[in-house]
Amino acid sequence: MGKLTDRVAIVTGGAQGIGKAIADKLAAEGATVVVADVNGEGAEQAAPEGGRGMQVDISSEEAVRQLVDDTVDAYGKLDILVNNAAIVPFKAWDEVDFAEWRRIMAVNLDGTFLACHYAQKPMREAEYGGSS
Ligand SMILES: NC(=O)c1ccc[n+]([C@@H]2O[C@H](COP(=O)([O-])OP(=O)(O)OC[C@H]3O[C@@H](n4cnc5c(N)ncnc54)[C@H](O)[C@@H]3O)[C@@H](O)[C@H]2O)c1
Repeated sequence: MGKLTDRVAIVTGGAQGIGKAIADKLAAEGATVVVADVNGEGAEQAAPEGGRGMQVDISSEEAVRQLVDDTVDAYGKLDILVNNAAIVPFKAWDEVDFAEWRRIMAVNLDGTFLACHYAQKPMREAEYGGSS
């Protein structure tokens, strides 16, 4: 029995890279993992057994609200949120135009805020990952 048995987790940006490794590790410890990624196909492929993948753009308030609602509907609660998704432009700052800058802020900042905002209530109710 893993130390996360009966825990329910959301990992944003879990279709590949570090997020996928986090999802796999959480599942190996017994958690049920929902992989949420803008790459829906990748999320479904990466979702560990017993969990699910969802196509979610974390910069969308409606999509994040739906992610949390669907997770709680499906698994009864939410214990763990991993805010992993982000976009990083591998170029000099002065090559980033304003539209790209806004998109980076929308995903990296708004997305992290939205995930915390909608996850905090069920997490507090689960009395595991949330503070009082
Ligand atoms: N790789 C590194 O060396 C490194 C170093 C420091 C920090 N980080 C951070 O770790 C995290 C993961 O890094 P990585 O290298 O695995 O990144 P990655 O680019 O390989 O994976 C990021 C994932 O996030 C998803 N994603 C992008 N925009 C999204 C959105 N709007 N909604 C939902 N999902 C979205 C992508 O589809 C992808 O699956 C990032 O936050 C990154 O900034 C990475």
